[in-house]
Amino acid sequence: PIQPVILSGGAGTRLWPLSREAYPKQLLPLQHETLSLLQQTALRVADPGLFSPPLLMASQEHRFLVAEQMRACEVLPEAILLEPVGRNTAPAIASAALLTAGVSPEKILAILPADHRIDDTTELIRCMKLAAESAANGAIVTFGITPDAPETGYGYIECGPAEAAPRGLFGIASFTEKPDAHRAREYVESERYFWNSGIFVARADSLLEEFDRFCPELLEACRSSLDTAERDLDFQRLGNEAFTRAPAISFDHAVMEHTGKGRVIPCDPGWSDLGSWKSLWQNSPRDEFGNSISGRVQAREVRNSYLHSADKRLLAAIGLENMLVVSTRDSVLVAPMEESGRVGRLVEAMKREG
Ligand code: GDD
Ligand code: MG
Repeated sequence: PIQPVILSGGAGTRLWPLSREAYPKQLLPLQHETLSLLQQTALRVADPGLFSPPLLMASQEHRFLVAEQMRACEVLPEAILLEPVGRNTAPAIASAALLTAGVSPEKILAILPADHRIDDTTELIRCMKLAAESAANGAIVTFGITPDAPETGYGYIECGPAEAAPRGLFGIASFTEKPDAHRAREYVESERYFWNSGIFVARADSLLEEFDRFCPELLEACRSSLDTAERDLDFQRLGNEAFTRAPAISFDHAVMEHTGKGRVIPCDPGWSDLGSWKSLWQNSPRDEFGNSISGRVQAREVRNSYLHSADKRLLAAIGLENMLVVSTRDSVLVAPMEESGRVGRLVEAMKREG
């Protein structure tokens, strides 16, 4: 069976002020839904015919929420590994690969981010099976989504030649994580690029080989943090001192931009990233004026906007277009929809300035 590894970390700053460090977006049931994105992710890979119980990589502050959410949707994880500090996705993936390889090095991992919506699970599973076939031969397989806009928040995969077998797989000519707006536009216009979905399928030992090649000090830090891990109830706490030594870098920058083992499966599982207010708005039910409105809101002559009052406070708006207004008990965000990609950086800066 395939070993799912669910990434449930990240500070969740991009959906501020709704997501807070204590409650990042993947743990929030979003509008009109009962299950959180994390729960939806776990249930997508719950078929015991194909998958082992999931391995969860989470930050240590969220441990009880994560465990409680798994209980609530009746998923019994293989393990919940706790990161003492946020170091982005590369150290989380390296630690998961090390833990798995300690038991069975050739086991195939499916790395799953927990901040996505996927409408067509059948299509996802079809691609997973194909990916596992290729991963068994050592590839690191990605899922390519056809881009519909020059978004700068994604990785771009340049499609290479078709593989002889299995059919439906292609080489990766280049991988560029979060290009600038100019390059993103070129890529989309050339029609040779996919967006990286953020899901990866690979053997544990193939991942370790690439970590060892491109960032040996990161791998070494993760190895000793696993050696010094401590059991705590249902959790395994990675060793603090060693894990803190790992550089904070994403798997995309650390490995995917450099590896020769990358492959891509073009697929269309009704994928959307819910990483910004704009994508949330695009994925919410909208009224005849293009607005997505929730909570106590009064709107007059408002179009194509996202208005959300998360508290009993009344939010009134007149004459807005393409705007984002999110009001909570103690904070209000107001921004043009097109600038919603800047929220995360603003919040980081506010944190630094205290
Ligand atoms: N355990 C753990 N620890 N998980 C983390 C950490 C961490 O330190 N940091 C982020 N994550 C989780 C996030 O919660 C999310 O589910 C997933 O890892 C990906 O991290 P993001 O921070 O959301 O990455 P991104 O959206 O900027 O970019 C990635 O996803 C895009 C598609 O949505 C990249 O893979 C891009 O190439 C890709 O296009
Ligand atoms: Mg994301």
